[in-house]
Amino acid sequence: MKLIYAKDYNDLSRKAANILSAQVILHPRAVLGLATGSSPIGTYKQLIEWNKKQDVDFSKVTTVNLDEYVGLDPSNEQSYRYFMDNNFFNHININKANTNVPNGMAVDIEEECKRYDALINSIGGIDMQLLGIGNNGHIAFNEPDEAFEKTTHKVSLKPETIEANKRFFNNISDVPIFAITMGIKSIMQARSIVLIVNSNDKYDILKQSLFGPVTPSVPASILQMHSNLTVIYCCDKEL
Ligand code: F6R
Repeated sequence: MKLIYAKDYNDLSRKAANILSAQVILHPRAVLGLATGSSPIGTYKQLIEWNKKQDVDFSKVTTVNLDEYVGLDPSNEQSYRYFMDNNFFNHININKANTNVPNGMAVDIEEECKRYDALINSIGGIDMQLLGIGNNGHIAFNEPDEAFEKTTHKVSLKPETIEANKRFFNNISDVPIFAITMGIKSIMQARSIVLIVNSNDKYDILKQSLFGPVTPSVPASILQMHSNLTVIYCCDKEL
């Protein structure tokens, strides 16, 4: 595990963007696993800037996102497809057909989960997975549980996740209670993982995840078992 301390959010974002762009420069056809939420916004901004300067080329890159709310269609501003288009894909030279987000509007959610796993396999798995961490230790929407869920699945969001995500909605009652999330197996099969953590509030859960017991009650703790994990964090104290 590589632990990289960033002095502020800008520093964290540039460091993460440097690692992702190195991946794409070395492997122009890379498969990037991407996250939504507040943490990666700065990373995406930096990558957009470098793409505009032609320092990094996304034309051959494929992306797979971690998760999507059930019941929100791509035109809904709170959907993760909308987030990705507006915060990243619309501003870089990626082929939109090569960007993948689970379909939260699928009639048969179980089928959609199977389709998503098959898709990840068919593109050869993920070369580099960008992750954030939830306040309760979730990665993607793999919430604390009694066992690690391996494959893409439908999840009931925990009250603390709904509470944390209400900041993006007008009303807490508007926050969807179900999501589709990539499973722990697909995440762990990524050839490299970059976890970005930008908050003092997450210091304790990050420490527990990286140095505590590996347990499904702290989903991010499984990352200890990954052989190519980079953690970039910006908190008041160093780990
Ligand atoms: C988002 C995702 C979530 C977030 C996590 C942290 O696609 O999978 O696990 O990474 O909830 O969210 P932020 O960055 O908003 O604190």
